[in-house]
Amino acid sequence: MQTSLLPQLRRSVVRFGPGVLAALGCWFGAGALAQDATGPATGTPVVLSAADQHPTYLRDVLPIFMGNCSSCHNQQSRFVYNWLDYKTAYGDRWEIRRRIWDSWKGSYYKEAMPIANSPESLNLTEEQRRIVREWVDQGAARGVAPAAGGPKTKEEQIALGRKLFSSICAACHQPSGQGRPNIFPPLAGSDFLNADKSRAIRIVISGRQGEVIVNGQKYNNNMPSFPLTDDDIANVLTYVYNSFGNSGLDVKPEEVTAVRAQPVAPVTAPVNAAPAPPSQFE
Ligand code: HEC
Ligand code: HEC
Repeated sequence: MQTSLLPQLRRSVVRFGPGVLAALGCWFGAGALAQDATGPATGTPVVLSAADQHPTYLRDVLPIFMGNCSSCHNQQSRFVYNWLDYKTAYGDRWEIRRRIWDSWKGSYYKEAMPIANSPESLNLTEEQRRIVREWVDQGAARGVAPAAGGPKTKEEQIALGRKLFSSICAACHQPSGQGRPNIFPPLAGSDFLNADKSRAIRIVISGRQGEVIVNGQKYNNNMPSFPLTDDDIANVLTYVYNSFGNSGLDVKPEEVTAVRAQPVAPVTAPVNAAPAPPSQFE
């Protein structure tokens, strides 16, 4: 059972020095993320309902990558793949499967990674390995389980959105929507969220990097993009807008489709500033 990556990351810093870690793209924020993540990332078995047998990337596999791999495999990585990006992880899924299932303890590599200090990746439970293997074998093409088609009422959207929120967004923004000081901005009562619906849709489509001020507090971090369908994004945002003291707006799939079709404005804020010093988490 994994509770915290931080001591391991600190050991990594001692062994390699911050320069090497920065070059690898090692992401100190991931330590904080994994530390608080609940569910599969901490080894709790995932219970799959009969209606949806196969593991999905977002609900089942991404939390494992966040907890066990993302200190190195993240958005800042220059020389290693970013497993937090669905397309990258999907594209390299057979190699992932080989390393964490077929050859994890075999002769191909003595460890998951050819560098000595990746204890977090060795901490995978048998259950987590099984989930990844099944995802590769059967569920790989899907970021999420396909939802039944047809237009939804607002209540249906909220119910579906609640599930997505707790499996994806809550890891960072917290189940309460309150976020975490200096790291993850709140969605609860967020002036930024409530001010501009199209902007919120764009953030869930594309992720966001750089400075953002929410309720007077400054954040400067990275939110990854997720391979969600227009329906999923409409549902999750409708849930968010109708929870946590927010404005009660609803978001329709057509609105997401429209935002997706717009060209993305060039990012002016500094992107991927140097990783935050570890002392931030002391
Ligand atoms: C301590 C840093 C670190 C951690 C943690 C880590 N990796 Fe890696 N990984 C690397 C490095 C460095 C490479 C590039 C060298 C290589 O290919 O072996 C790599 C390469 C890989 C590759 C080969 C990619 C390819 O196709 O060439 C796979 C697959 C992989 N990692 C999977 C994982 C998984 C799954 C986890 C989590 C269970 C994980 N790694 C955790 C550092 C890490
Ligand atoms: C891996 C962590 C992570 C996950 C998972 C995540 N976010 Fe974020 N989110 C962030 C960070 C970090 C920022 C601030 C980014 C910046 O500094 O530019 C952010 C910013 C936002 C913002 C704009 C700022 C605000 O607080 O109003 C919205 C809206 C948002 N996220 C919605 C979502 C939704 C909806 C989901 C689930 C589909 C989600 N996020 C999942 C980390 C995450």
